[in-house]
Amino acid sequence: MSLEHRLKTFRGRIEDYLDSKLPREDTAPERLHAAMRYAVLGGGKRVRPTLVYLTGETLGVQIERLDAPAAAVEIIHAYSLVHDDLPAMDDDDLRRGRPTCHRAFDEATAILAGDALQILAFELLSGDTAMIGNPRNRLAIIRELAVASGTAGMAGGQAIDLWAQGRAPDVATLETMHSLKTGALINASVLMAAWSADHPDPALIDALGRFGRAIGLAFQIQDDILDIEGDTETLGKTAGADSARDKPTYPSVVGLERARQRAAELCDAAIDALSGLGESATALRQMAAYIVRRDY
Ligand code: IPE
Ligand code: IPE
Ligand code: MG
Ligand code: MG
Ligand code: MG
Repeated sequence: MSLEHRLKTFRGRIEDYLDSKLPREDTAPERLHAAMRYAVLGGGKRVRPTLVYLTGETLGVQIERLDAPAAAVEIIHAYSLVHDDLPAMDDDDLRRGRPTCHRAFDEATAILAGDALQILAFELLSGDTAMIGNPRNRLAIIRELAVASGTAGMAGGQAIDLWAQGRAPDVATLETMHSLKTGALINASVLMAAWSADHPDPALIDALGRFGRAIGLAFQIQDDILDIEGDTETLGKTAGADSARDKPTYPSVVGLERARQRAAELCDAAIDALSGLGESATALRQMAAYIVRRDY
């Protein structure tokens, strides 16, 4: 089965699952529920859920165990986008080809939708009955997502991003920022699936962690490249927004050519990390290549 076909299948699966777990728009508070559903449903590449499913598939984990972790990381990601787009942060009007959440609703509702989405992710992880029964591994999954969302992950990276605006950080600081704001949730997607196996092997967790960190950083480098090379229509968000806001990006600090090289290097490192996994990890290797060649 081609990677494209798998991406499509997993997208359909996660879309249905998310739809069933998000609060309904016809129950109170209706406007908040509508904003939450608007932020999560009907768009996005679903890269993080796909990574959960593909990693689980590689390790022979039953797919039903993976739905809640896949949904939880996508919900955290969607909340991070809602807050990232707010006027106090990147001040963007377009997301996933539609008005951003605060544009379609209002700022206060967008802030609250983000808050409620964040906690919904953990409600799912703590209560889902199809997930791994082993309480230690379930806690490891919850912890993985919590750490990746907090100051040692996405929120911490976003804080560096705010600080960096109008400054010229060195490459090391830029890589830390990228690994935290974006890499952490991508790495968590891989590791949550690893913790969903009955007996996760520490060496395997270590290898998958190296894979996850490499593709996570590569993902944000490619996002920065696409801000320059992509077009608004294809991206579904405003091209050129980074330079317009004087945001340091990988290409703005080291140049486009070096940024492309670094992304390719990370893709190789990610594939290398899976050397012990053989044929079963083919789709994960394809995913690493997809992350650095995608055009949106
Ligand atoms: C965009 O993420 C924001 C970053 C963390 C780089 P995606 O490129 O995964 O956005 P969607 O989910 O497909 O819209
Ligand atoms: C996003 O980085 C990181 C998040 C944690 C949301 P960007 O600000 O570059 O993401 P886009 O380009 O707006 O999607
Ligand atoms: Mg941002
Ligand atoms: Mg942004
Ligand atoms: Mg960007």
